[in-house]
Amino acid sequence: QNIVILISGRGSNMQAIVETDIPGARIAAVLSNRTEAAGLAWAAERGIATDALDHRHFADRTAFDQAMMQKIDAYQPDLVVLAGFMRILTLEFCRHYQGRLINIHPSLLPAFTGLHTHERAIEAGCRIAGCTIHFVTPELDCGPIIAQGAVPVADNDSADDVAARVLKVEHQLFPRAVADFVAGRLKIKGNRVINAEHRA
Ligand code: GRF
Repeated sequence: QNIVILISGRGSNMQAIVETDIPGARIAAVLSNRTEAAGLAWAAERGIATDALDHRHFADRTAFDQAMMQKIDAYQPDLVVLAGFMRILTLEFCRHYQGRLINIHPSLLPAFTGLHTHERAIEAGCRIAGCTIHFVTPELDCGPIIAQGAVPVADNDSADDVAARVLKVEHQLFPRAVADFVAGRLKIKGNRVINAEHRA
């Protein structure tokens, strides 16, 4: 199956996916909304097709998303992976890739949608933090949950401490979720995902 990965920055999650041997998966391209995204150079060095579209050069979200969809569709993706892609997507984009678009979010959804998740978890006194991989629906950070991972929050933790701890879990969880999708193990039932090979 062809996979297109979208990034905005360093791309460590993208790297984790690329470096995992996922049976039946082919990373067709890594695309970004930032030409200077560090992850693009990393992928290009490994012979993966890369491209960037600077969102600031487009009149509005719709124009950017349409152009991005054209780029993505040129690779005929079975799965589009948002790996730290920091753009809110239009309804058209979400609908176009419905059921084959997944995202990683650095919180235990449905808590802390949006930005600054770890800071907010610390401020709220949470004893655990984590990450969620989910199918993307038009409502931000709300689609069917594929996998979650949790880490403890210690008394003196900064947001960076929590982010680093959560990131390690992201790198384990994301390639597994992609593998589950590629193997056809994920079935969407309402707002839930049934995983044929359920793991905690
Ligand atoms: C990750 O923590 C992801 O959950 C968040 O942005 C970060 C991206 O990191 N939305 P990377 O680009 O994959 O290294």
